[in-house]
Amino acid sequence: MRTLVVDHPLVAHKLTALRDENTDSPTFRRLADQLVTLLAYEATRDVRVAPFDIVTPVAPTTGVKLSEPRPLVVPILRAGLGMLEGMMRLLPTAEVGFLGMVRDEETLKASTYAERLPDDLSGRQCYVLDPMLATGGTLAAAIRFLVDRGADDITAICLLAAPEGCDRLEKGLEGIDVPVTIVTAAMDEKLNDKGYIVPGLGDAGDRLYG
Ligand code: PRP
Repeated sequence: MRTLVVDHPLVAHKLTALRDENTDSPTFRRLADQLVTLLAYEATRDVRVAPFDIVTPVAPTTGVKLSEPRPLVVPILRAGLGMLEGMMRLLPTAEVGFLGMVRDEETLKASTYAERLPDDLSGRQCYVLDPMLATGGTLAAAIRFLVDRGADDITAICLLAAPEGCDRLEKGLEGIDVPVTIVTAAMDEKLNDKGYIVPGLGDAGDRLYG
């Protein structure tokens, strides 16, 4: 598993505003949307492209276009939905699948309550959207889901991550023979005893939709 913490002043600026408890819900949604687009730029660095011949007003040339099959974007409901538009701005032709997962706030165990994904993901690059990588349980389950369907390259975009969650995710993915990359705006200090990221930004789902 590869982890990329995006080091960019605009990312840090928008994340600071997201963390601020005085930021209201409409502003939080707008900033999350913008931040995802910045993270998506880094996350799509290895998106597959194929040569494509065109003619400019001056001369023929060869550029690139996105390869088939199209990439699949998978927001994890509910909070990941707040990241979808920001991602689709950069990959407007991607297909979108949905996974509904919720973490039991007592046991911190993730369970799946909804799934709408293509049956066969063979040869597909997948981009998972989930704002928080806390204990890592949600993302581990989501990535296993995609690998079981045949996905052969997975990148997860998270607004924030906790070191404990990254370690646990890495262990949870042992035995998976598929490249997995985590792209995040920050690696925070730790998890608290309720499984919240510290300093974090609170409950992303509640701040987006609560
Ligand atoms: C939050 C968050 C992640 C998950 C992270 O979702 O959006 O999906 O918890 O936790 P983990 O890394 O410890 O598994 P939540 O279960 O609160 O659902 P929501 O998106 O519907 O608010």
